[in-house]
Amino acid sequence: MHYWITGASSGIGAQLSIDLAKQGHKVFASARSEEGLDKTKALAGSHQDNIDIFPLDVSSYEQTLIVYKAIIDKYEHIDCAILNAGIYLPMDLENFQASIVKKTLDVNVLGIANCVEAISGDMIKRQAGHIAIVSSVAGYGGLPSSSAYGASKAGLINFAESLRFDAQRNGMKLQVICPGFVKTPATDKNDFPMPFLVPIEKASERIQKGLNSNKFEISFPTRFSLILKFLNMLPYSLYFKLVGKTTKA
Ligand SMILES: NC(=O)c1ccc[n+]([C@@H]2O[C@H](COP(=O)([O-])OP(=O)(O)OC[C@H]3O[C@@H](n4cnc5c(N)ncnc54)[C@H](OP(=O)(O)O)[C@@H]3O)[C@@H](O)[C@H]2O)c1
Repeated sequence: MHYWITGASSGIGAQLSIDLAKQGHKVFASARSEEGLDKTKALAGSHQDNIDIFPLDVSSYEQTLIVYKAIIDKYEHIDCAILNAGIYLPMDLENFQASIVKKTLDVNVLGIANCVEAISGDMIKRQAGHIAIVSSVAGYGGLPSSSAYGASKAGLINFAESLRFDAQRNGMKLQVICPGFVKTPATDKNDFPMPFLVPIEKASERIQKGLNSNKFEISFPTRFSLILKFLNMLPYSLYFKLVGKTTKA
């Protein structure tokens, strides 16, 4: 299979790239850092030839289209695009900056939209293809310090739900991935307790299992995801009380 993975220079995207390459798949790995992508490739060891790096800033519309064309010119088609590139910039009202919201939406939402525009035309022509959009359980409901990140991830869930109808009509598969806390360089910066923290290898396994299923949503760890879904079904008065107490917000 041909996979295009964005955000492949570290964390979840890097682990998925390595694991899929080791299984014999061809991986087109994108992120801004060429050095990081080279590191991912090297970590695939004897399977590193299965990873071809395509450096890219997904927030640039023009660059995304150019990189997509470069992949297609070389490899003809992409079977599955895992749109995983994302940033997390925590922010409270006391230090609120609209520019942080813009930066987050530019990468997390528009970055994915740029990739979807690039790939969807060919997938529609082929009436085949698979797009997996990486959101987060943080998109289920507002969490402290997450106004920018949470808004981007909530937006992505709705974005994916909407596109799922069109994808199905065109013989394509479209899924949304909502991980809980996964141990990556992004979460290593957190100075608060992260319940049900998942090791990166396990996260990659869960995502691969989900990609091979027909489920729309790939969410893990199951218990954490269900707890958050349940909290979001409660009346707001209870939601704010329980989340506030647990997170000491
Ligand atoms: N870790 C978690 O607990 C967790 C939970 C839920 C959801 N997620 C989501 O999972 C995805 C991966 O997160 P992670 O934890 O693996 O984080 P990470 O280790 O920080 O990796 C993020 C990746 O995104 C890339 N990236 C950032 N901005 C980019 C841009 N403008 N263009 C292209 N690539 C860009 C980074 O590479 P460069 O800096 O080289 O560009 C890096 O490869 C994110 O979407 C994140 O929101 C993570």
